[in-house]
Formats: sequence, C-alpha cells, structure tokens
Amino acid sequence: MQELAIETSDLTRHFGRVVAVNQLSLHVPTGSIYGFLGPNGAGKTTTIRMLLGLIRPSDGIVCLLGAPLTRTNRSQLAHVGALVETPSLYPHLTGYENLQVTQRLLDSPHAQIQRALEIVQLAGDAQRCIRQYSLGMRQRLGLALALLREPSLLILDEPSNGLDPAGIRDMRALIQRLATTLHITVFLSSHLLSEVEQIATHVGIINHGQLLFEGTLPDLRQHQTDCVCVVVDQPQVALGILTEAGWQAEITSDIAYGHNVVHVTLHEPAVVAAINALLVQHGLAVYELRREQPSLEDIFLQLTGDHSPERNAA
Ligand SMILES: Nc1ncnc2c1ncn2[C@@H]1O[C@H](COP(=O)(O)OP(=O)(O)OP(=O)(O)O)[C@@H](O)[C@H]1O
Ligand SMILES: [Mg+2]
Repeated sequence: MQELAIETSDLTRHFGRVVAVNQLSLHVPTGSIYGFLGPNGAGKTTTIRMLLGLIRPSDGIVCLLGAPLTRTNRSQLAHVGALVETPSLYPHLTGYENLQVTQRLLDSPHAQIQRALEIVQLAGDAQRCIRQYSLGMRQRLGLALALLREPSLLILDEPSNGLDPAGIRDMRALIQRLATTLHITVFLSSHLLSEVEQIATHVGIINHGQLLFEGTLPDLRQHQTDCVCVVVDQPQVALGILTEAGWQAEITSDIAYGHNVVHVTLHEPAVVAAINALLVQHGLAVYELRREQPSLEDIFLQLTGDHSPERNAA
C-alpha cells in the first residue's frame, strides 16, 4: 500500500451553524504534489489549519507523516513546513534577519539560513529590508522560513495568491524543485486548477466543505465523458430525434458557426457514426460532427458549480 504523508478521516469543523469542513477524507501520497482545490469559501484554509493543529476539528482524525495528530502528540509538526495565507514578516528587518529570528527560535543550524535563501533564489536580496520586497519575494521568503526546519512535508495555502503571471511561474518552478530535488511532499491549496495542473501529481477538489473528487490528473480527465458537437440544418428536429433515441442532448449556440449546435453527451466512441446515420436517415443535413474533450478547467467548474450532479447527489 502507498505511504501517505497526510491522511484525514471524516474530518469535520463547524463554526456555529456553518459546517466549514464536512467529513473530509483525504489521502496525500508521500512524494506527491497534491493540489487541494476549491472555490472561495470551500473550506481549504479551515482544513489546512486543522492539518497544522492551529484549530481543533469538531470531529474526525488527522494523520501526518504516519502518526495521528492529537492534543498530546504533535511531534510530527517539527517535520512540517507551512505557509498559510501571507507570511508574517518583520518589515523593518532584512530577509536574512527575518530568517535569523526563526532559526534562533528553532535552534536550527546557522547554515540553514543561507541554504534556504539559495533554494528560494533570494540570496542576492538577503540584505534588503522586507519593506522593499515585492509580494512574490515575500512569498518566497515565507517559503524559506518554512524550509528552515528541513521539512519532509510542506503545506501551502494559496502560495500564488496575488502574484502576477511571472511570480506565479516562479513559485510553480520553486515548488516543483522542492518536490523533485529535495523530495518534499507538497500539499498546496488553490482556487484555480490552471495554477496547479502543470505540477500536481494528485488533486483533491472540495466545495462546501465536502470532497468532490480525489485522484491523479489523468483520473480527473477520465471522470468526465466526452461530448459530440453536432452542427445540423434543423437543430430542434435533431434534438427531438436524438432525445427520442435515448441520447442526452441539448442545444447550445455556437457563435463561431452562426448556427445552433446540438451537444450530445457521448458514452462510447462508436456512437459518432450512429448519430450521423440516424440524423441522415431522418433527412437532416449534417454539416459537422466533432468530438469535444472538456478541459480540466471545464471539469473543475462542472464539479464545483452549483448545478453539478455530484453535488446534488451528495
Ligand atoms: N473563524 C471562523 N468563524 C466563522 N466562520 C468561519 C471561520 N473561518 C472560516 N469560516 C467559514 O468557513 C467556510 C470555509 O472558509 P475557508 O476560509 O476555510 O474557505 P477557503 O476555501 O479557504 O476560501 P478562500 O478561497 O476564500 O480562502 C466559509 O463559509 C467561512 O465563512
Ligand atoms: Mg483560504
């Protein structure tokens, strides 16, 4: 069985009547880059705060690095680096001095400061005041702080939040380097799938505190069936014929074609030919039949949208 760096079972957290996290069971494999995704208010930060022992769960269990996190046993946290929302830094101190404060608190070797600065590529800016740092530099210094304890697991809450495209790219490259060269398991939250899909090996998608999907990115792609897009001269007639024959179909307008288009949900590849034959039999002119694979972003939006079947079924 695969080793898990993080495992939660039925993790739940209420705030008064609000159920921020609802029976969440996560499985984060050791060595993975796990994208923890969900729209605003989904429960990501609340989950992360429970993983780090910053707030107590209302119910359920957190296991970190193979051992349950309890009120009395938190020794695993010594091997966990974290960045929750924006890092708290002393603006009047330099980057180096900020790291020094934490290094002294942790009583970690002095050489760790230089090492952490080099990993996050801030060695050249170490003597500048934080006040002069850009947001991207502050986020990277926050990561350097988390690296001082030589973690085997990093938990990052929206590390790219507020960064410009170049900053996002740098952060992505840095996270990837940490995983591949230092073999650190990375658990990072985001509300954008596009931000993590290039680096994540696994994703967990939540909304309203509940897990909607967990697995690898190829698993996520499999999760959604393809569609066939049909361009015909009489969409309403085509819709009737296809629905009658048992296909799930709807009409959507496609501006690029200037026609209405019938979208048909495809359950098996062979049906493209069957759809064509059926429509031609009924005397319709079929201009185009095109298989469409939804993008990961479409799948994410479908899963987290208020009309998603998964949510309604939950
Ligand atoms: N301390 C708190 N007191 C009351 N409600 C809270 C508290 N913290 C979070 N919540 C509620 O819990 C829900 C989940 O919030 P959370 O911050 O975990 O979401 P999130 O996924 O991190 O959102 P975002 O993407 O905006 O950061 C929200 O409805 C929020 O209002
Ligand atoms: Mg949050």
